[in-house]
Amino acid sequence: MPDFLFSNFSQHYQQNTGTVQLMEDLGRAAMMPGPVYAMGGGNPAHIPESERLFQATLSTIIQDDAQFAAMVGEYDAPQGNSGFCYALANTLSDRFGWDIGQDNIAITNGSQSSFGLLFNAFAGQFPDGHFRRILLPLTPEYVGYADVGLAEASIFDGHKPDIELLDERFFKYRVNFSDLSIDERFGAVCVSRPTNPTGNVITDDELAHLANACESAGIPFIIDGAYGLPFPNMVFTKATPLWNDNIILCLSLSKLGLPGLRTGIVVAAPEVIRLVRNANAINQLAPGRVGPTLAHRLLQDNTLMHLCDNTIKPFYERKLQHALAVIDHCMANIPVRIHKPEGALFLWLWFEGLQITSYELYQALVDTGVFVIPGEHFFPGVNDNNWRHRYECIRVNYAGPDATIEQGMALLAEVVQRYLP
Ligand SMILES: Cc1ncc(COP(=O)(O)O)c(C=O)c1O
Repeated sequence: MPDFLFSNFSQHYQQNTGTVQLMEDLGRAAMMPGPVYAMGGGNPAHIPESERLFQATLSTIIQDDAQFAAMVGEYDAPQGNSGFCYALANTLSDRFGWDIGQDNIAITNGSQSSFGLLFNAFAGQFPDGHFRRILLPLTPEYVGYADVGLAEASIFDGHKPDIELLDERFFKYRVNFSDLSIDERFGAVCVSRPTNPTGNVITDDELAHLANACESAGIPFIIDGAYGLPFPNMVFTKATPLWNDNIILCLSLSKLGLPGLRTGIVVAAPEVIRLVRNANAINQLAPGRVGPTLAHRLLQDNTLMHLCDNTIKPFYERKLQHALAVIDHCMANIPVRIHKPEGALFLWLWFEGLQITSYELYQALVDTGVFVIPGEHFFPGVNDNNWRHRYECIRVNYAGPDATIEQGMALLAEVVQRYLP
């Protein structure tokens, strides 16, 4: 075996971080010899109605010689497919009254790559000598943010939430504004809404409060709408989408059921869009063209929005009710708390007093073929290692087949009770 000498830069990719584990587990689960209950990674469900629509629309595109030739035979513009950007700008301004044109939209190869660029553009070392971080005002937050920083020091400042205990074993995280100050010490503020891993949807009031504070501080507010508004609209509570030119809204086609197409969308002020365009050109020449071509077709006649509102959202609402009923049944005697599930496709379970860490619980579960994600990965920028809560939670994806959820939860209940007081 050759013994290669890697540069300092490569250190960034030498560790098995939470994100690597999460993505590797998707493959590992598929290779396990025994039965596997995959409730780990972030794969969306296979929804037959959506897949039939994607298939039929792609067939129409493929039958059209000119469209097919352009889609697979030509690089797109580095800002992304202009037809799609134009159509999306029109849809967003018509639907929400946002002052948006083609100059406000860029395409990336998945929103994960949007975050890689944006976080490094707004955090790290600045020409004025300051080191600025991205403030995550409500942590737990998406594990995928944690490892994208290229600076030597951590680029995140994670803010612990207020925990509100609700009836019937539910709880909800709320932004703890009492000791949160948003100012020019930070390069940007970011929230996922709905939040991965908790399914929390931060309220319109919380969102407005954060947006106003960012504007006053002169720093951008990044809203990660991968599961949210306006599409795929996996939101089960009242919530209004928000955008202005101080907000960078990151969207994605993945949770619509198209993660294989790797298409992310950035909606922002033109100077941010130019940055994304240049980064696309420098790093990958152009973003992929299949996702935008498909989505462009789906935007016509409102098919995309119709699909979200009438198929995708009701599908996940049903899956959620099923998962909750399964928990009621198999964890009736287990002191579990569930984060109020207001969106996305996850349940965030809190086993207060768990005698092992969530990572150790994850390992014990893998031995029985059950894949979940240990909660402790979801606290980027939180340095308080004595805070037990961060080791007491797990994330469960309930998008899989009903039988997987039923058997997987039953096994989870069996294993977890060994480690509860
Ligand atoms: C909250 C959140 N943001 C962003 C992403 C990245 O998605 P993609 O790169 O597929 O667009 C994910 C993926 O799971 C996510 O959960």
